[in-house]
Amino acid sequence: MKTLLSANAIQQSVASLAAQIERDYEGQPLTIVGVLTGSLMILADLIRHIDMPLRVGLIQASSYRGRTTESDSLQIGARMLTDLAGRHVLLVDDIFDTGRTLAAVLEELGHENVASLRTAVFLWKEGRQVVDILPDYHCFKIPNVFVVGYGLDYDDEFRNLPFVAELEESER
Ligand code: IMP
Ligand code: MG
Repeated sequence: MKTLLSANAIQQSVASLAAQIERDYEGQPLTIVGVLTGSLMILADLIRHIDMPLRVGLIQASSYRGRTTESDSLQIGARMLTDLAGRHVLLVDDIFDTGRTLAAVLEELGHENVASLRTAVFLWKEGRQVVDILPDYHCFKIPNVFVVGYGLDYDDEFRNLPFVAELEESER
């Protein structure tokens, strides 16, 4: 596997994202909602860097099934959320690929009475989008390759890697 982003580079980028979020949401009631399962690494690292009161929620969305690297049906699953009414909600996901997942979760949470709704993604895969929304925050833009690590999986494995690597066709 070829390392694309080192653990060090990731930690620096997540810390600077946290600083930006602190500045933008200072004094506001913030709820950070992680999209399971891929966001678990960035979620845990990001929130421990944010030095202000906040709430954390989780929502499950799955698009990739088993060993396939192309998404088929998208499902929104369990919601572990406290009341979002009046809250500034920041949705956090692992990767902005086709964008269908973020668009669907945004639509889902848009029905709540939120004060604002924005998105942050760890990775933004260029040239793949089929939706007309863009993430408000991101850590890295990457080319159109299949990556694993730092929350991202292939067949539910590799999420635990502290770095991001490219998984080539022959390795799948
Ligand atoms: P989207 O709905 O097409 O934007 O895809 C979102 C989901 O697809 C992500 O949350 C990931 O779980 C998965 N995904 C997209 N690209 C990759 C990748 O390169 N590696 C691992 N998972 C990916
Ligand atoms: Mg996945």
